[in-house]
Amino acid sequence: VWYAKNKELVKYRGLYVKASPNPAIWRFIELPDGTRRKLTSEERDGEINIPSEARLYTTVSQLAPSYSEASVYEFKFEGEAYRPPAGQCWLTTKEKMEELARKRRLQVDGELPRYILYYDDFPYSKLTNPWLDTAGASDKLYVVQTSEKPIMRCLLMTTDPGDLIFDPTCGSGTTAYVAEKWGRRWMTCDTSRVAINIARKRLLSGVFDHYKTLNGTVSSGFDCKKIDRISIKNLANDLEPQKVTFFDQPNVDKTAIRVTGPFEVMTLGRYSPEDWKGYLTESGKLENYITVICRLYRKDVSLQGASGLVHAIAESEKEKIALSVGPLTGRVTARQINDAVQDALALGVSEVHILGWAFEANVGEVKSQLEAREKVKIELIMIRPDTLAEGLKVTQPEMLFSPLALPDIEVKIKNGNGKEKEVVVTLKGVGVFDRKRRTTNYYPADKGYIAAWYLDEDYDGDCFVDCQMFFDFKKKPNLKAALKAEVDSDEFELQLQSQPFPAGIYKRIAVKVVDVYGNESTVVKNL
Ligand SMILES: C[S@@+](CC[C@H](N)C(=O)[O-])C[C@H]1O[C@@H](n2cnc3c(N)ncnc32)[C@H](O)[C@@H]1O
Repeated sequence: VWYAKNKELVKYRGLYVKASPNPAIWRFIELPDGTRRKLTSEERDGEINIPSEARLYTTVSQLAPSYSEASVYEFKFEGEAYRPPAGQCWLTTKEKMEELARKRRLQVDGELPRYILYYDDFPYSKLTNPWLDTAGASDKLYVVQTSEKPIMRCLLMTTDPGDLIFDPTCGSGTTAYVAEKWGRRWMTCDTSRVAINIARKRLLSGVFDHYKTLNGTVSSGFDCKKIDRISIKNLANDLEPQKVTFFDQPNVDKTAIRVTGPFEVMTLGRYSPEDWKGYLTESGKLENYITVICRLYRKDVSLQGASGLVHAIAESEKEKIALSVGPLTGRVTARQINDAVQDALALGVSEVHILGWAFEANVGEVKSQLEAREKVKIELIMIRPDTLAEGLKVTQPEMLFSPLALPDIEVKIKNGNGKEKEVVVTLKGVGVFDRKRRTTNYYPADKGYIAAWYLDEDYDGDCFVDCQMFFDFKKKPNLKAALKAEVDSDEFELQLQSQPFPAGIYKRIAVKVVDVYGNESTVVKNL
C-alpha cells in the first residue's frame, strides 16, 4: 500500500530479484547446436542435471487478448499455414511475426506457433509482495531494531539519491543509517534519549561504500548496474534491448570509503512541563503527572499557592522549598530553571529544587550564576529513569531521586608546539545510577560505565557540536575490511584523553557523556 499526499509526486523505482527457473514454466531447452527439445521428466524432477550450456525457454501465446479484424491473417511458418481460431486474432502484424520467425523466436507448441521466451532474456522478476526473504535485525543495538533490508527496499523504491527522508520513530536510527548509506538526506526523531544516543553512535561509527555517481554529484544519481532486457516488442521491431537499471546495485569506487556526513542532534529547546499528562497510580486513580512526582519527592508538598513553573511548595518549620518538575519526554532547560527561580522569588521562596529526567548541557553553569545573582539555593535533582515504570512500588524518595551528577573532567592548558596554547580534556569519571543500591555513584572513567563521550571544543552555550568523539566499541567494528588496512586495535579502546586543540572564540568547552544505560550528562567549563 502506498500513501502519498500528492500522487503526482510519487516516485517508483522498481527493484528486481533474481528469478530461479521453475521447470514447470521453463519446459524446453535449446542446446548450443541450436536443437530444441522438451525437458525430460528426470531433468524436470532434478534427478539428472540439465546440460549446463543449454538455454531454458518457454513458449508464449501469439493470440491477442482482444479481437481485431485487421490481425486475422494466414501465417506461413516452417511450410505450414496457420490461422487463428474463429473469433480470435494474432497479437501482431504479419511482418512482425515474420521478423520473429527470422530470429528463431517462434515454435509450434500445441496447434499454433508461439513466441519463444528464454529464461536468460531477463532472468529477474520485479520485487512485489510478500517479502519472504526478510528477517528481524541481527546483532541488535536496540530491542525493537528494524532490519535494514525492508527499509532499504522502501527507500530505494520511493526516493532518489539526494532526496529527504523522515522517520518520526528513530529508535536505533536504522532509517537514518540506511539513508546515509544510500546517499539520501534524512531527519529523524524520537521521544527516547536512549534511542537517540544509540542512533548517534551508530551513525558516527558507520563506514559505507563509496558509490560512483553519474556526473559527480549525489543528486545526479548513482551509476548503477544496467542489464539488457530482451522482449518480444524489441525483437519484433528490430530494436536494441531495453536497459533496466538495478537501483540497488550501484558501482562502487573501490579507492574510497565514506563515513556519515555532518548532522545535528537537537532537543526541544523550549520546556513543556506536560502538566496535562495523566499517570495511573497503583490505586488505579488517574493523577496529574507533576503532582505524582512532587508527592513522591516530598510527602508534605502543597500544591496550593504554586504558580507558573513552581509546581508545588514543600514547607516545614525549618525550610520552604519550591519544586519545579521537568518534562517527561525532554530536558530541563536553562530557561525552566530561570523561570522557576523567578516564580519562586515572587512567592517569597528562596530555595528551588528542579526535578528532571534529563538536563540541558549548561544547567550547572546556569545554577551557579543564578545562585550568585539572586541569592537563592538551587538543587538539580535527577528523577530515576524507571520511576514511573515501576508502578511506584518504591516510595522512599531517596530511592527515586538523586542530585544531578555531572561528568568529572580535567582541563589542561599547555603551550603547544607553536605559540598558541593547547587544551587537553581528560574524562575522569561519571555519575551512574546504581539500580541495586538505588543511588548515584561516581565511577572512574575506565570502569566500563561509559558508552561514549563527546567534546565540543568551543561551546556556544546553545548547540553542542561533536568536535571529538570517543566510543567504547565493545564489539570491534570491521574497519580492517572496510579500510583494507591494518588498524591498531588500541583504537577501539575507549580513549579518555582528548586530542589537543586550540581554545575557540567562546573560550568554553562542553563534554557530553553517555553511560551504558543510555543516560547522558553534560558539563560545561570555561577556559
Ligand atoms: C519500533 S521503534 C523504532 C525502531 C527503529 N525503526 C529501529 O530500527 O531501531 C519505535 C520508536 O518510536 C519511539 N516513539 C514512541 N512514541 C513516539 C512519539 N510520539 N514520537 C517519537 N518517537 C516515538 C520509541 O521511543 C521507539 O524508539
